Amino acid sequence: MIRVLFICLGNICRSPLAEALFIHKISHKSYKDLITADSCGTSDYHIGELPDERALACAKKNGIFMEHRGRQLHRTDFRDFDYLVAMDHSNLENIKKLSMQVKLAPKNLHLMREFQQDAEFPEVPDPYYGGEEGFQKVFEILDESLDGLILELESRHQFNGIS
Ligand code: 4NP
Repeated sequence: MIRVLFICLGNICRSPLAEALFIHKISHKSYKDLITADSCGTSDYHIGELPDERALACAKKNGIFMEHRGRQLHRTDFRDFDYLVAMDHSNLENIKKLSMQVKLAPKNLHLMREFQQDAEFPEVPDPYYGGEEGFQKVFEILDESLDGLILELESRHQFNGIS
Protein backbone atom coordinates (compact mmCIF):
# COMPACT_ATOMS: atom_id res chain seq x y z
CA MET A 1 0.00 0.00 0.00
CA ILE A 2 1.28 3.47 -0.92
CA ARG A 3 0.18 6.23 1.46
CA VAL A 4 0.20 9.86 0.32
CA LEU A 5 -0.29 12.85 2.65
CA PHE A 6 -1.07 16.30 1.27
CA ILE A 7 -0.04 19.16 3.55
CA CYS A 8 -0.83 22.87 3.70
CA LEU A 9 -1.12 25.40 6.54
CA GLY A 10 -4.76 25.25 7.64
CA ASN A 11 -5.96 21.98 6.07
CA ILE A 12 -9.19 23.66 5.00
CA CYS A 13 -8.34 24.94 1.50
CA ARG A 14 -5.50 23.49 -0.57
CA SER A 15 -4.66 20.10 0.95
CA PRO A 16 -8.23 18.78 1.34
CA LEU A 17 -8.84 19.75 -2.31
CA ALA A 18 -5.64 17.96 -3.30
CA GLU A 19 -6.67 14.86 -1.34
CA ALA A 20 -10.19 14.79 -2.81
CA LEU A 21 -9.01 15.33 -6.39
CA PHE A 22 -6.23 12.74 -6.01
CA ILE A 23 -8.69 10.15 -4.69
CA HIS A 24 -11.09 11.01 -7.52
CA LYS A 25 -8.36 10.46 -10.11
CA ILE A 26 -7.09 7.25 -8.50
CA SER A 27 -10.62 5.85 -8.21
CA HIS A 28 -10.58 5.34 -11.99
CA LYS A 29 -7.40 3.27 -11.91
CA SER A 30 -7.24 -0.50 -11.73
CA TYR A 31 -4.67 -0.23 -8.89
CA LYS A 32 -6.93 2.05 -6.80
CA ASP A 33 -6.87 -0.33 -3.83
CA LEU A 34 -3.09 -0.03 -3.59
CA ILE A 35 -3.05 3.72 -2.81
CA THR A 36 -4.53 5.75 0.04
CA ALA A 37 -4.42 9.49 0.73
CA ASP A 38 -5.08 11.93 3.55
CA SER A 39 -4.40 15.59 4.22
CA CYS A 40 -3.37 17.74 7.16
CA GLY A 41 -2.15 21.21 8.08
CA THR A 42 1.05 22.24 9.80
CA SER A 43 -0.95 24.65 12.01
CA ASP A 44 -3.55 23.90 14.68
CA TYR A 45 -5.86 26.70 13.45
CA HIS A 46 -8.69 24.59 12.06
CA ILE A 47 -8.57 21.22 13.79
CA GLY A 48 -11.88 19.37 13.48
CA GLU A 49 -13.33 21.87 11.02
CA LEU A 50 -14.91 21.20 7.65
CA PRO A 51 -13.09 22.63 4.63
CA ASP A 52 -13.56 26.32 3.86
CA GLU A 53 -16.92 27.00 2.17
CA ARG A 54 -15.16 28.30 -0.93
CA ALA A 55 -13.15 25.06 -1.15
CA LEU A 56 -16.34 23.03 -0.76
CA ALA A 57 -18.01 25.08 -3.52
CA CYS A 58 -14.97 24.66 -5.75
CA ALA A 59 -14.97 20.88 -5.30
CA LYS A 60 -18.68 20.70 -6.01
CA LYS A 61 -18.42 22.90 -9.11
CA ASN A 62 -15.70 20.62 -10.46
CA GLY A 63 -17.63 17.42 -9.71
CA ILE A 64 -15.37 16.27 -6.86
CA PHE A 65 -16.62 14.68 -3.65
CA MET A 66 -14.80 16.11 -0.65
CA GLU A 67 -15.26 14.98 2.92
CA HIS A 68 -12.62 15.96 5.45
CA ARG A 69 -12.09 17.36 8.93
CA GLY A 70 -9.05 19.51 9.61
CA ARG A 71 -6.19 17.88 11.43
CA GLN A 72 -2.65 18.86 12.28
CA LEU A 73 0.52 17.16 11.06
CA HIS A 74 1.62 14.68 13.72
CA ARG A 75 4.92 12.88 14.38
CA THR A 76 3.32 9.54 13.48
CA ASP A 77 2.71 10.85 9.95
CA PHE A 78 6.45 10.55 9.25
CA ARG A 79 6.18 6.85 10.00
CA ASP A 80 2.77 6.20 8.43
CA PHE A 81 3.01 7.96 5.06
CA ASP A 82 5.26 7.11 2.11
CA TYR A 83 4.90 10.49 0.41
CA LEU A 84 4.47 13.90 2.02
CA VAL A 85 3.46 16.55 -0.50
CA ALA A 86 3.60 20.19 0.66
CA MET A 87 1.78 23.04 -1.06
CA ASP A 88 4.39 25.76 -0.50
CA HIS A 89 7.87 26.43 0.86
CA SER A 90 6.55 27.61 4.21
CA ASN A 91 4.71 24.29 4.68
CA LEU A 92 7.90 22.51 3.68
CA GLU A 93 9.92 24.37 6.31
CA ASN A 94 7.30 23.63 8.98
CA ILE A 95 7.39 19.94 8.08
CA LYS A 96 11.20 19.86 8.27
CA LYS A 97 11.12 21.65 11.64
CA LEU A 98 8.74 19.06 13.14
CA SER A 99 10.75 16.24 11.59
CA MET A 100 13.91 17.55 13.32
CA GLN A 101 12.11 18.02 16.63
CA VAL A 102 10.74 14.49 16.72
CA LYS A 103 13.83 12.97 15.08
CA LEU A 104 11.86 11.15 12.42
CA ALA A 105 12.71 11.67 8.75
CA PRO A 106 9.93 11.80 6.15
CA LYS A 107 10.31 9.05 3.55
CA ASN A 108 9.64 11.20 0.48
CA LEU A 109 9.09 14.93 0.93
CA HIS A 110 8.03 16.96 -2.11
CA LEU A 111 6.53 20.25 -3.19
CA MET A 112 3.30 19.72 -5.14
CA ARG A 113 4.33 21.77 -8.14
CA GLU A 114 7.47 19.68 -8.69
CA PHE A 115 5.04 17.37 -10.46
CA GLN A 116 3.39 20.02 -12.66
CA GLN A 117 4.81 20.27 -16.15
CA ASP A 118 6.07 23.77 -16.95
CA ALA A 119 4.94 25.20 -13.60
CA GLU A 120 5.40 28.97 -13.82
CA PHE A 121 5.83 29.23 -10.04
CA PRO A 122 6.96 26.63 -7.47
CA GLU A 123 4.12 27.01 -4.95
CA VAL A 124 0.38 26.34 -4.83
CA PRO A 125 -0.72 29.86 -3.81
CA ASP A 126 -2.62 30.26 -0.54
CA PRO A 127 -6.20 31.19 -1.57
CA TYR A 128 -7.45 31.90 1.98
CA TYR A 129 -7.37 35.68 1.84
CA GLY A 130 -8.50 35.96 -1.78
CA GLY A 131 -11.72 35.40 -3.68
CA GLU A 132 -13.37 32.44 -5.33
CA GLU A 133 -11.28 32.75 -8.47
CA GLY A 134 -8.21 31.93 -6.37
CA PHE A 135 -9.75 28.57 -5.51
CA GLN A 136 -10.37 27.75 -9.16
CA LYS A 137 -6.75 28.63 -9.94
CA VAL A 138 -5.63 26.33 -7.10
CA PHE A 139 -7.86 23.59 -8.48
CA GLU A 140 -6.31 23.88 -11.94
CA ILE A 141 -2.78 23.79 -10.51
CA LEU A 142 -3.67 20.73 -8.42
CA ASP A 143 -5.29 19.05 -11.42
CA GLU A 144 -2.10 19.29 -13.49
CA SER A 145 0.26 18.58 -10.59
CA LEU A 146 -1.64 15.48 -9.49
CA ASP A 147 -1.50 14.05 -13.01
CA GLY A 148 2.28 14.39 -12.76
CA LEU A 149 2.37 12.86 -9.29
CA ILE A 150 0.30 9.90 -10.48
CA LEU A 151 2.66 9.31 -13.42
CA GLU A 152 5.59 9.44 -10.99
CA LEU A 153 3.94 6.93 -8.64
CA GLU A 154 3.11 4.64 -11.57
CA SER A 155 6.69 4.70 -12.82
CA ARG A 156 8.20 4.18 -9.36
CA HIS A 157 5.95 1.45 -8.08
CA GLN A 158 4.69 -0.51 -11.10
CA PHE A 159 1.78 -1.62 -8.87
CA ASN A 160 2.56 -5.25 -9.63
CA GLY A 161 2.07 -4.72 -13.32
CA ILE A 162 -1.43 -3.30 -12.91
CA SER A 163 -1.99 0.07 -14.61
P1 4NP B 1 -4.79 26.32 3.53
O1 4NP B 1 -5.30 27.83 3.64
O2 4NP B 1 -3.42 26.27 4.19
O3 4NP B 1 -4.73 26.08 2.07
O4 4NP B 1 -5.82 25.48 4.26
C1 4NP B 1 -5.30 28.54 4.83
C2 4NP B 1 -6.32 28.33 5.73
C3 4NP B 1 -6.36 29.06 6.91
C4 4NP B 1 -5.38 29.98 7.18
C5 4NP B 1 -4.35 30.19 6.28
C6 4NP B 1 -4.31 29.47 5.09
N1 4NP B 1 -5.44 30.73 8.38
O5 4NP B 1 -4.57 31.60 8.57
O6 4NP B 1 -6.35 30.52 9.21
